[in-house]
Amino acid sequence: MADKTNATDVTQATEEVTALRTQLNEWRRQYYDEDAPNVEDDVYDRQYARLVELEQAYPQLVTPDSPTQLVGGTVRAGFTKVTHAIPMLSLGDVFSQAELKEFTERVEQNVGEPVDYNCELKIDGLALSLRYEEGVLVQGATRGNGTIGEDITANIKTIKSIPQKLTRPLTIEVRGECYMPKAAFAALNERREAAGEPVFANPRNAAAGTLRQLDSRVVAERQLSTFMYNVADYEPLTARTQSEMLTELADLGFATNPDFKVAHSMADIFSYIDRYQNQRADLAYGIDGIVIKANSLPLQRSLGATVKVPRWAIAFKFPPDEQPTLLLEVEWTVGRTGVVTPTAVMEPVQLAGTTVARASLHNPDYVAAKDVRIGDTVLLHKAGDIIPEISAVDMTKRPKDAEPLVIPTTCPSCEAPLVHLEDEVALRCINPKCPAQVQEGLVHFASRNAMNIDGLGPRIIAQLYTNHLVTDVADLYRLTTEQLLTLDKVKDKSAEKLLTAIDRSRDNSLERLLFGLGIRHVGAKVARLIAQHFGSIEALMGAAQEEIAEIDSMGDVIADAVVQYFASEEVHTLITELQEVKVNTTYQGPSVEVAEESNSWFAGKRVVLTGKLTSFTRGDATQWLQANGATVTGSVSKKTDLVIAGSDAGSKLQKAQQLDITVWDEAQFSETMREDAQA
Ligand code: IVH
Repeated sequence: MADKTNATDVTQATEEVTALRTQLNEWRRQYYDEDAPNVEDDVYDRQYARLVELEQAYPQLVTPDSPTQLVGGTVRAGFTKVTHAIPMLSLGDVFSQAELKEFTERVEQNVGEPVDYNCELKIDGLALSLRYEEGVLVQGATRGNGTIGEDITANIKTIKSIPQKLTRPLTIEVRGECYMPKAAFAALNERREAAGEPVFANPRNAAAGTLRQLDSRVVAERQLSTFMYNVADYEPLTARTQSEMLTELADLGFATNPDFKVAHSMADIFSYIDRYQNQRADLAYGIDGIVIKANSLPLQRSLGATVKVPRWAIAFKFPPDEQPTLLLEVEWTVGRTGVVTPTAVMEPVQLAGTTVARASLHNPDYVAAKDVRIGDTVLLHKAGDIIPEISAVDMTKRPKDAEPLVIPTTCPSCEAPLVHLEDEVALRCINPKCPAQVQEGLVHFASRNAMNIDGLGPRIIAQLYTNHLVTDVADLYRLTTEQLLTLDKVKDKSAEKLLTAIDRSRDNSLERLLFGLGIRHVGAKVARLIAQHFGSIEALMGAAQEEIAEIDSMGDVIADAVVQYFASEEVHTLITELQEVKVNTTYQGPSVEVAEESNSWFAGKRVVLTGKLTSFTRGDATQWLQANGATVTGSVSKKTDLVIAGSDAGSKLQKAQQLDITVWDEAQFSETMREDAQA
């Protein structure tokens, strides 16, 4: 991009700024309001950076409606502005080894001798600045436009990896990246899609959208993490190199990325790039390149910066990992809440470490924006290095007779007319008797964080439902061995096991039942709080909206949903039936504090991964399990609680079977991960 910051003419800058703002605001509107980003990240980033550059050069041109002053679709109400005493800079980008070499040559020409570089991963998140006074955290801010950011102190205080107090009483401003791990990003998007909400395009957007929340509790739930990599001023530290600084920051209590390396030559830098380009898929967080920094801190200072970027560092951006494939069909499926989601089914391709054959098309607006058609050759990539997504259609390969996709107007399961609720992007089936919704509801009821009925999965439920043996959750408790034996692949032993599991679930504490009923906005955590507060379902059914809203400041949205749910005559009948079949409707759990600690089902479990996983890498799965309190070990022993077996699993699976250890396949693991995220 030509450097026009020296434009002599403010008029010229004004024109360019106006054009950039119009374009960027339109893209933002599509993304935030319509959930249909029509532009690739890098194109947006370049235009945005240009606008920041111009606004920095001509501060008089900054207007409140400039995209640099906005977060999401709304003007930032509720956040105080923070002026960065030392600006938070961005980085120059290079895309090839030749350009990278030009950068190092420039540095070394400037310095007059060879220079060591620290190579770091470029985390796909959002820049953050943390101020400490005498070792105590006093402020957290976003980068904003580099000069002015937002005060997000309340929100960052909920992020576990950020120390509230340092190990030494330093007064220092530390900078780094706030990111959402891949697994958390995937789970969040899955939940948003199921709730009919727009999905986040990548972890950076998800992290930014989360930090933008005015309600810090939402931030606390979303598992954000950080890697710190910079300080505004290195004087308070003893480190005098970038690599020493990372170690010192870790000693002070910060999370730092361990995968950095000092390079003494171009060959060292290239081998670092190679290594992480290959390992990228195995990391638990998304990276979009490598950052190369002059290692000496005094040298960084003397090299200084241009108006926008430092002269001592550069980002090497990875080429997008994209694969062409053929779109075979689009499936429309109905979820538990009635949201109808289109999924692209494609010819399988290898993409960033896994085989991919399906990608969500989210909602009708998204389908329209992408204009994908059956028979199209589409380009697939992984959003945030994890979620398969169609980036574009190769128009040169479009078959002549390809027709635009037809958006269904009736439910694929029950044929009821589909609707858009309020201003939701999602299509919904609102027939409460819709077979797909009822079956999904039964699957949810039986799931691990709900009634935890082992062995009652989607396959059995589909049969129970189609054979008219079960139409609502109370029917599960009336099932007999004879009925179960009529099902495909159910033998004496498995029928007995299933009945025992159903019977056991009768004694569950109220919060499991409440969560299992699938009341809108009532996740496992909310269910627990409600159950603990009221103690019994009768007390809850007789409660006023205000009393529910006041529990742990739950608020009107949840309280309204609960009241509305229990206002229904059918629900009353169902609860009576559940009581008739001896399902417990009282709270028997521990106090909220105790329950909170053992939030994840995996906490404290010893898990072994074996075989090939398809929707995530072994590294991702391991990191996710560890983050949720599990110990992941390499070999199966009597102490192992669970073996997760992908395809082609060998001796470890055999051993698990010999020792009678629970074995899950990948689907069961994914399902539980999702439930855990909802908990
Ligand atoms: S150094 C003046 N190091 O990439 C120094 N940035 O595209 C500026 N980023 O704004 C940043 N990982 O948000 C640096 N290891 C890393 C990074 C990193 C990710 C982000 C950062 C920056 C953006 C520029």
